[in-house]
Amino acid sequence: MATEYGNPMGSGESTDYNHYIIDQGWKNYTDEDHGTWQILYNRQRELLKGRACNEFMDNLDKLGIGDSKVPDFRRMSETLKELTGWEVVAVPGLIPDLPFFKLLSERKFPAGNFIRKRAQLDYIEEPDVFHDVFGHVPLLAHPVFADYLEAYGKGGLRAHEFGTIKNLARLYWFTVEFGLINTPEGLRICGAGILSSSGESKFSLEDASPNRIAFDLKRVMQTNYRVDDYQQTYFVIDSFDQLFQETYKDFAPLYEELKIHPRQLTPDEILPEDKIIHKGTQAYACARDIEKQSA
Ligand code: PHE
Ligand code: FE
Repeated sequence: MATEYGNPMGSGESTDYNHYIIDQGWKNYTDEDHGTWQILYNRQRELLKGRACNEFMDNLDKLGIGDSKVPDFRRMSETLKELTGWEVVAVPGLIPDLPFFKLLSERKFPAGNFIRKRAQLDYIEEPDVFHDVFGHVPLLAHPVFADYLEAYGKGGLRAHEFGTIKNLARLYWFTVEFGLINTPEGLRICGAGILSSSGESKFSLEDASPNRIAFDLKRVMQTNYRVDDYQQTYFVIDSFDQLFQETYKDFAPLYEELKIHPRQLTPDEILPEDKIIHKGTQAYACARDIEKQSA
């Protein structure tokens, strides 16, 4: 896709962020590391049957992401490049916004190369190779999602100029990380943050606690989210085509409006105009808040 809105970096800023890319160091993974991958892979693979969207399950196999070893980024990228032109590059962990956007805009997906320790099987704060590869990479082989993420990267560089990165980041959070999708067979998971978490895979779809609300671009951009626990609200897209259509348009007018009428919704808030698929009881979140207060 060509740059639609002129040079997104503006003038005079350095655009070379390639120094964030490191060698994956595949040979450095120990047997224990590969074993950790195996445990996580097998657990999720089983759990995600009938829960993850088909596009995810099909591409997991197509890309040769398997159960026995941590995938080798170079080999995986060869297949991925043939399918959609994306490649996976290794980074040491979380990287700043601008290099992140720049890499996405070049169809390079930055993935952490380290893997969690056995004591952290269920929860880690920083995204590791299991989250980044198992969670994110399969959908990069889906043509429409592939275009969406590249456009998001370009959009991030633009949002930087508008001062609206926070609004755009919420779109990423509620779609790429924690999105649900409506299918003829029922709700399915498409967000990587859910797909790589055994607890949230069940919680997001089956628990009565969280809200499930139809995706609305402006609404999502105004919604605060939790980073330390399961989400209190999930947004549901109808298709990847819908997501792409709604985000392909120029965001400038929307950004202006968000700046003139700033509004921040709490993670559990429901609006009269929301298209509610499930109104959450928020029982889980309430219990957790009480737990934290007394801790
Ligand atoms: N259309 C957005 C803009 O005008 C860019 C974008 C595309 C952002 C897709 C997110 C996802 O900035
Ligand atoms: Fe992620």
